[in-house]
Amino acid sequence: MPDKIKVLGIVGSLRKNSYNRLLLLNAKSLLPEDATLEIFDRLGEFPLFNQDLENDPPQIVKEFKKKIRESDAILIATPEYNYSIPGVLKNALDWAARPYGDNPFEGKPVAIMSASIGMLGGARAQYHLRQVLVYLNTITINKPEVFVSFAHKKFDEKGNLVDEEAKKYIAELLRNLVNTARLLKHQYGLIRA
Ligand code: FNR
Repeated sequence: MPDKIKVLGIVGSLRKNSYNRLLLLNAKSLLPEDATLEIFDRLGEFPLFNQDLENDPPQIVKEFKKKIRESDAILIATPEYNYSIPGVLKNALDWAARPYGDNPFEGKPVAIMSASIGMLGGARAQYHLRQVLVYLNTITINKPEVFVSFAHKKFDEKGNLVDEEAKKYIAELLRNLVNTARLLKHQYGLIRA
């Protein structure tokens, strides 16, 4: 059995009963056997980004960047706020990407999912996030796109995702993410060897 692929899940919402956090918690049981998922749920601890501090960032930023570096792949679950990504998520990504040349996302495979109480399931936020990830130079997984619409109807009282189609797509997205991460790990290994 090869080493397990380490996936870092990032929760884009601070809300206590966040559907996006539930998506990530449910992803744990949909993960391929050759992978692990750690959830990073601390975006509320980041101060507002200030470029004056980028060379000596707060401890939480250092920890976030270390966790990204130690992961083989990233899985972001984000709400859509006013047709875009929440400020807390953008703020954390801005901190992580600085100073210039010290971007832990560089070359990392990243998958995105979103849950929304609306009809489009956060689709517009995902396309904004994909644009940000272009600058971060990630290898973003294109398909399947996981938009969990009408999220308030898709979980039971214990927080279990009860939408079979959504579960199928999340499992497929995770398989694609882990396969891509393994391919890249192998490739980098060959280059280093
Ligand atoms: C929203 N919501 C929302 N939904 C959507 O589909 N498109 C949108 O543009 C917005 N805009 C928006 C702005 C703000 C400020 C809030 C608070 C909410 C609704 C959103 O989908 C819903 O609150 C989700 O439950 C948020 O995700 P979490 O916190 O449950 O993960």
